[in-house]
Amino acid sequence: MLNKNILLCVTGGIAVYKAAALTSKLVQAGAKVKVIMSKSACQFVTPLTFQALSRNDVYTDTFDEKHPEVIAHIDLADWADLVLVAPATANVIGKLANGIADDMITTTLLATTAPVWIAPAMNVHMYNHPAVIKNIETLAGFGYQFVEPNEGYLACGYVGKGRLEEPEKIVSLVTNYFQTQTNILSGQTILITAGPTKEMIDPVRYLTNRSSGKMGYALAEEAVKMGAKVILVSSVDSLTTPKDVQFVKITSAEDMYQAVMDNYQKASIIIKSAAVADYRPKEISNQKLKKKDGNLIIEFERTKDILLELGKKEDKPFLVGFAAETEKIDEYAWSKLERKNADMIVANDVTKAGAGFEGDTNIVTLYKKNHEKKELPLLSKNQTAKEILLEIYRDLKEGVKNANS
Ligand code: CTP
Repeated sequence: MLNKNILLCVTGGIAVYKAAALTSKLVQAGAKVKVIMSKSACQFVTPLTFQALSRNDVYTDTFDEKHPEVIAHIDLADWADLVLVAPATANVIGKLANGIADDMITTTLLATTAPVWIAPAMNVHMYNHPAVIKNIETLAGFGYQFVEPNEGYLACGYVGKGRLEEPEKIVSLVTNYFQTQTNILSGQTILITAGPTKEMIDPVRYLTNRSSGKMGYALAEEAVKMGAKVILVSSVDSLTTPKDVQFVKITSAEDMYQAVMDNYQKASIIIKSAAVADYRPKEISNQKLKKKDGNLIIEFERTKDILLELGKKEDKPFLVGFAAETEKIDEYAWSKLERKNADMIVANDVTKAGAGFEGDTNIVTLYKKNHEKKELPLLSKNQTAKEILLEIYRDLKEGVKNANS
């Protein structure tokens, strides 16, 4: 984060005190921080606190032009490498979603072309209000990133979702963001499998699962941005293949097995985010099955476990498996890591809101070979992908160091 320009917009909620800690931690991490406060934010903590922590002027009023040679809100908007709104109230979210610019924060936010991250903090019922939900969706549609609030005790006395994410976590997400802006994966070839497999019963019917492939596609897109060469193996045709990705279209688990085995030696990293069928019909009828009286019984046989097979290879690349679970996440994830000889398992509890199959967000936990466990907060699938890739990059770097030492 060294010398990155972070513009922190602080709006009025009790979590303003956490924004002071956030300012300090960002400065300690090497960032240059400038702060804009809303009038209400100044009711909680004085601008002097932020001035002292950021070692910069604090802006509160659009018309209080400190430097006559520039227009402050345009100058700040252009200066920022990243704009963070933390805490973000329902009010600022609403104004921004509707293009309202009536104070220093909102005029600057409309004027910036830098990425904007919003970390909401408010009462649980406010957060769940349909207007707030709609405004957040609108902003997400504009490309704004959200750092979701935590659940827990709220200053208003309620227990629920609405607590500003901890400053340490926000700093870590920001650090990771800047790191992923560089070509850290150049020279790596990543083989990614995504989405469900389709197991044919007859020429017109198949068995599949609810996986959408969005997580795998997000991984492919972000990996290319980080400089990797990407081979994507998938049955999905409803998503656009990310730019510069080599796409291998498959249908069944057997096709995926063949495609992976044909390509695995080219890859330094394999990410198996696909939801592969564990069973397939023993016989595929050449003709469409006609209905008959009584029940239909189809015999199934096991498919090949691709990840398990890869884990046995002597020349195995860095292997990442996925685990979508509905219970005992820890237990199943650790046992999958061990059993399949993977280097990392990305597990999620698909029963949790925001962590399901079809959505655009995910909540995952990473289980690593060195017994480290890393929980990620609710993030967009693209942000989750960036965090996973960054963790792989760090593990590989660490591995190289270990091998050399
Ligand atoms: N996988 C695979 N080949 C299969 C099945 C799964 O490569 N035939 C991979 C998936 O891509 C994923 C991981 O293995 O990375 C999931 O592990 P798995 O044990 O198969 O999970 P489940 O299908 O949920 O199985 P279980 O019933 O054991 O939980």
